[in-house]
Amino acid sequence: MCGICAGISKENMIDEIVGGLKKLEYRGYDSSGVAYIENGKIKVVKSVGQIKNLEKKLAKTCANIVIGHTRWATHGVVSESNSHPHISQDGKVAIVHNGIIENYEKLKTTLKTKEFYSQTDTEVLANVISQMPGDNLQKIVSACREVVGSFALAVMFENCKDIFLAKRNSPLAVAIGDGEVLASSDISVFAEKFEFCYILDDDEFARINSKNVVFFDKNGKKIEKNRVFLKNFDFYSDFSDEKYFMLKEVKEQPMAIRKTFFEYTSDKKFFDLQQLKAFKSFHFIACGTAYHSCLMGARYIRHFCKKETHVSLASEFKYDENVLSKKCLYIFVSQSGETADTIACAKMIKEKGLMSMGITNVSYCTLNNLVDFVLPTFAGREVAVASTKAYTCQLFTMLLFALMLAGKDLETLKSFVLDFNVCDLGSDILQSLFKFKKIFFVGREQDYVTSLEGALKLKEIAYLNCLGIAGGELKHGTLALVDDETLVIAISTQTGLKEKMENVIEEIRARGGKVLLVSQFEHNTKVDYKIVLPVHEECLMPIVSVVPLQLLALEFCVRLGFNPDKPRNLAKSVTVE
Ligand code: M6R
Repeated sequence: MCGICAGISKENMIDEIVGGLKKLEYRGYDSSGVAYIENGKIKVVKSVGQIKNLEKKLAKTCANIVIGHTRWATHGVVSESNSHPHISQDGKVAIVHNGIIENYEKLKTTLKTKEFYSQTDTEVLANVISQMPGDNLQKIVSACREVVGSFALAVMFENCKDIFLAKRNSPLAVAIGDGEVLASSDISVFAEKFEFCYILDDDEFARINSKNVVFFDKNGKKIEKNRVFLKNFDFYSDFSDEKYFMLKEVKEQPMAIRKTFFEYTSDKKFFDLQQLKAFKSFHFIACGTAYHSCLMGARYIRHFCKKETHVSLASEFKYDENVLSKKCLYIFVSQSGETADTIACAKMIKEKGLMSMGITNVSYCTLNNLVDFVLPTFAGREVAVASTKAYTCQLFTMLLFALMLAGKDLETLKSFVLDFNVCDLGSDILQSLFKFKKIFFVGREQDYVTSLEGALKLKEIAYLNCLGIAGGELKHGTLALVDDETLVIAISTQTGLKEKMENVIEEIRARGGKVLLVSQFEHNTKVDYKIVLPVHEECLMPIVSVVPLQLLALEFCVRLGFNPDKPRNLAKSVTVE
């Protein structure tokens, strides 16, 4: 998975392309690069790591014809030489590519050149294009005809003021603005600046200059395409080349967290802080994953605001003999804002004349119309039934809310927001884990919440019978189930509870259980497997530590042959009680 951003303008395009690549970073961030035209010649700048590294290198560069790429490595290791753009050996063609050229080894044998700068499939294609006869458009059309595989391509030629686009099975769109044309893998890149765009279909081509775009079919014959108005789109949603929405959404988490942060630190006013500070207690109510985020939300309020909190499952709250209070704020958390049990509770609170707040991910929903305050989460539309980015955005929104109530400075979270990335599980560890059919998740305090969420993900999409357990509770019953066929995933992200978790791990290993430790610390106990987390402030670790558990569930699910986006017996929005 990679991201492409390419454009032509009368003005300098470097900032725009780098800005676009930053928005596409969720698609891969191993390395990035741009190619541009200077005095008719192709120049290339590349960098390993995040886009900000490339940005530094480009600080003094000016160019108005630019193609850019952010890479998630498929063919070839992470290195500058394997980064895009790739140049043909004659230096006349530069391309950026998202997709896989499956027959690149075969295509290689047709090339005159035997010299390559990189180990990539893309470089082979750059040479195939260069070697083809005809004008620039014909070269690309003929080259693409030879390709087996997927591609979204932006191509530039020496001494040429156009950029060419080609697409098959990888997304690509193009937008026209005032004196500027921009192409991208994701239409969200156009969101702020453009009114409409065109989305290329498979085996279509385009030629862009600073004023217009001309489209061609698979034979290079001109075609007309319809405009797509951007206001009709949810900018995180249906434009994906990932096989599963769940994977797309897991990978979108850094972007969603960033968006949430920048929305809440902007000038926008989401609530009257003084009014909310007046509440003596906070009662969180939700279902499923949203209930887990409530457990953390309540912890944040207790920790930062030192106020009383309660947490209820909506389906229980409805029937409980609750002692309700005017001094309490009732907080309903729901990704969809349509969950029947949660809505029923919100109605009840409203009928009793009590104050409530909704934390929702959808602007127009039933819940928002029932509550007195709304805190939006900015995860973007979540399609997969298993909630991932909505969960981490709920956690992050509740953390921001607690910090605001406590009068703390939100800017301290900025470095986390910029650093947070989705980890790679590594195939070695996965191979050793797939054999386990009995899996428990243990953690204490905030890590207990993550244990519950990790277990829910695995149950819901991989249909494994697993449990999330509070570390200290194992010995009160569940330990009886632990044997040498059991995997216990121990989450340990709190310095003060590290030794207590070491005791839990010893208890498990003494019964033959195998332990996968998910932690940022070294522990003084032997474990069988380990996922090392990046180090962030403790209150942020529930956001960091849940990501490998989401990925683990997804890997188990796919390995077992299930579709993670549509688990059996479940629905995304549960609108019946
Ligand atoms: O839309 P909501 O957040 O109200 O949905 C609540 C639950 O149905 C939901 O979180 C469910 O548990 C997820 N499928 C879990 O991944």
